[in-house]
Amino acid sequence: HEPPYDAMSVPESKYLSPVWRDGLFKDRVVFVTGGAGTICSMQTRALVRLGANACIIGRSEGKTEEAAKDIATVRPGAKVIGIGGCDVRKVESLQAAAGRCVRELGGIDFVIAGAAGNFIVSLDGMSPNAFKSVMDIDVLGTFNTIKATIPHLLRSPTARILFISATFHYTGMPLQGHVAAAKAAVDSLMASVALEYGPRGVQSNVIAPGAIADTEGMARLVSSKEEAVREYEASIPSGRIGTVRDVADATVYLFSEAGTYVNGQVIAVDGAAWRRQGAA
Ligand code: HXC
Repeated sequence: HEPPYDAMSVPESKYLSPVWRDGLFKDRVVFVTGGAGTICSMQTRALVRLGANACIIGRSEGKTEEAAKDIATVRPGAKVIGIGGCDVRKVESLQAAAGRCVRELGGIDFVIAGAAGNFIVSLDGMSPNAFKSVMDIDVLGTFNTIKATIPHLLRSPTARILFISATFHYTGMPLQGHVAAAKAAVDSLMASVALEYGPRGVQSNVIAPGAIADTEGMARLVSSKEEAVREYEASIPSGRIGTVRDVADATVYLFSEAGTYVNGQVIAVDGAAWRRQGAA
C-alpha cells in the first residue's frame, strides 16, 4: 500500500509527491490560519516549495515565527511571514494580519482555514464553555478568516479557499462531540461560501483528513495500544494510516489549474476509513 513511486530519497518527498512541477505556484500567496500546526505547516511547505509565498497565522508567537522560518528554507528566495499572537476568534486580529500579508507579499490568492481546537472529553465532562471554545475557534474562527480575506481574494485571478474539517460528524464520535458539531458547521459554511462567492471567481472546498501520522490526534491513538493501532490500520480500506503528504498533495491538486472545476466539495483524505465505520 505504499505510494507507487519511489521518491523517498528526496527530502521533500515527506510532504510532497514528485508529480508536481517547480514554479507551479509562482507569484501566488497563501494565507494560512493554524499554519504552525502539523498538517497546515506541511500544506504550506508544499505550496512554498512549488513557488508560492506564504503568511501563516497562529496564537503562539514563538511557534508561529519558528514555523515560518522553517517553511521558508524549502525554496531559495521564498518569503514566509509568521504572524503570532493572532486569535481567529477576533476578526480585527485577522484583518490586521491579512492587511500585513497584502502589504508585504502583494495579495492573497489562496486561504487555508486550518486553525482548530481539540481535546478529548466526554459529553458528561464537557462544560458549556468547553463546547463554546471549540465552536468559537473552529466555526466563528473560520467565518472570521473568510471575512478578513475575501476582499483580497476577490482581486485574485486564481482565488481558492480550503477549509479543514474532519470525518467525525458523518457518524458522530465519542469524546469528540464538540469537534464533530463544529466540523459539521465548517462543511456547511463551505457550501454557502461556494454558492455565494463561486460566481465571483472564488473556489471553495473542504479537505477532511482521516487519521494522519505524526499529528496530535494520532499520538493519542498510538499512546493507547500498538495492537489497537494495527487493528485500526487494517480496517482502513486503503490499508494504511494517512501522511501529511497525502493532505498536502490533495491541497496542491485543488489549488492548481488541474483543480479548476472542483468547487463546493468535501474531499475526505482518509483512505475511505469513514466508509468502514460500523461496517465491520
Ligand atoms: C475538558 C477542557 C479541556 C479538556 C479545556 N477545557 N481543555 N475541558 N477537557 N482537556 C475547557 C476549559 O476547562 C474551559 O472551560 C474551556 O475548555 C476553555 O478553555 P481555555 O483553556 O480557557 O480556552 P482557550 O485558552 O481558548 O483554549 C482553547 C483550547 C485549547 C481548544 C481549549 O486546547 C487550545 O487552544 N488548543 C489549540 C491547539 C489545539 O487544540 N490544536 C489541536 C488541533 S488538532 P471552563 O468551563 O472550565 O471555563 C485538531 C484535529 C481535529 O483540531 C481532528 C482530530 C483527528
